Amino acid sequence: MIFLKSEEEIEKIRRASDIVVEVLDRLSEETKPGVSTWDLDKIAEELTLRKGAIPAFKGYRGYPASVCFAVNEEVVHGIPSKKKILKEGDIVSLDFGAYFDGFYGDSAITVPVGKVSQLADSLLLVTRNSLYEGIKMARASNRLFDISQAIQNCVENEGFSVVRAFVGHGIGRKLHEDPQVPNFVPENGHWGKGIRLKPGIVIAIEPMVNVGKPDVKVLGDGWTAVTVDGTLSAHFEHTVAILEDGPKILTEFRQ
Ligand code: MF3
Ligand code: CO
Repeated sequence: MIFLKSEEEIEKIRRASDIVVEVLDRLSEETKPGVSTWDLDKIAEELTLRKGAIPAFKGYRGYPASVCFAVNEEVVHGIPSKKKILKEGDIVSLDFGAYFDGFYGDSAITVPVGKVSQLADSLLLVTRNSLYEGIKMARASNRLFDISQAIQNCVENEGFSVVRAFVGHGIGRKLHEDPQVPNFVPENGHWGKGIRLKPGIVIAIEPMVNVGKPDVKVLGDGWTAVTVDGTLSAHFEHTVAILEDGPKILTEFRQ
């Protein structure tokens, strides 16, 4: 069941999203060789609480921290650790959600640590572009899988692959609401092109892109997802409201 959001509700999701943007901005500044993901998690938690908000992921299905990290071949949901120290050439996905005044915002960016390989650079560029191509399709009268198709085309045209095991989601009073937002067109034909999009739908669109095959597996900690073939993976996410006149990114950096 999809909950359509009023203007006031969208404004509240935007407020939560503003905190997410501020935290991700701060984390990307602090992401340098020598810093641990544990240190970054503490910075995020402290800043969020100082803003009067709550880190959305902590305690969600038992997730033990504020931020989900994913370094290099990790895809999503890496738990921070004092032993996970970032080094020059790594790429690291920072995925963060905040809960504020009854609503959630959710966003992810993948950032380079110092200078990275050309392949890593191009993976970041393509994954980010695919998110924006998907967002362009998030308009009333389009269908849900128009978003999925745009993302998939963008990624596969560059020879990379889209992860199937995780998808985007509706967001609002809950972190995960209907509808699921796949980053690929589901093969099961009876879904057709997906539901028709309407003003008031708010979704988190979050492509996860691998250099090699799309397959992922979860490590023994029960959380960290990695590529099966060991290739690099990147992840970008925005919370997006579908308005009468088109998509509005709620987790966009504003000066
Ligand atoms: N951004 C991810 C999502 O939307 C992270 C949530 S996973 C959590 O699903 F369990 F750690 F919260
Ligand atoms: Co999300």
